[in-house]
Amino acid sequence: MKNFHEAIEKNAGLLAILITIVISFGAMVEILPLMYQKETTVPVDGLKPYTALEMEGRDIYIREGCVGCHSQMIRPFRSETERYGHYSVAGETVWEHPFLWGSKRTGPDLARVGGRYSDEWHFVHLRNPRIVVPQSNMPGFPWLEENTLDGKLTAKKLQVFRDFGVPYTDEDIAGAKAAVEGKTEMVALVAYLQSLGKALK
Ligand code: HEC
Repeated sequence: MKNFHEAIEKNAGLLAILITIVISFGAMVEILPLMYQKETTVPVDGLKPYTALEMEGRDIYIREGCVGCHSQMIRPFRSETERYGHYSVAGETVWEHPFLWGSKRTGPDLARVGGRYSDEWHFVHLRNPRIVVPQSNMPGFPWLEENTLDGKLTAKKLQVFRDFGVPYTDEDIAGAKAAVEGKTEMVALVAYLQSLGKALK
């Protein structure tokens, strides 16, 4: 046994391989059970798939890098739940592909921002945040008011999500293009923001 130990210690390659095996095993023990737990795989009651417009808004949120300054993950601490509302639960994001939980909070968490402000507030805020929050250092996104959606890929996006198990109907997919065509990116993004965090009562 002594020689065995010595052999590992003297062989960097073997040591690296064995360390990798041990760490992977540890990770598997933590991660694999979560993939089969009901709490993390079953949607909470009242969870609705994004409408076609909200889906386009979500893609604009990704494109504009909002996730770089905003998390969507309320942790179960009193300081967070008093400010943002009920902490986030896994069942709220089972249909998210990919997750937009984020890890950087230059701005506030947005997991429950839906319904907190009017659409008009968001339009003004996204055009130039300093109009409504004078001390804000969030950039303005005025071009979102000028860009319009053509809806060419919207049905495809819903279809991809359906392939991942999100319950879209044939009608949702057939009507996707018409539901977004001609609308501005701003309208889509605000529809998305207003949908956030409403499933959990
Ligand atoms: C450079 C960092 C940064 C980026 C990028 C950014 N934000 Fe912000 N955001 C902030 C800061 C800081 C605040 C707090 C001040 C304010 O309300 O403007 C904020 C506030 C907000 C609020 C109000 C939240 C609340 O609860 O009061 C919303 C909604 C919001 N941002 C949405 C967005 C969206 C959508 C995008 C992408 C288009 C975006 N932000 C990009 C930094 C950022």
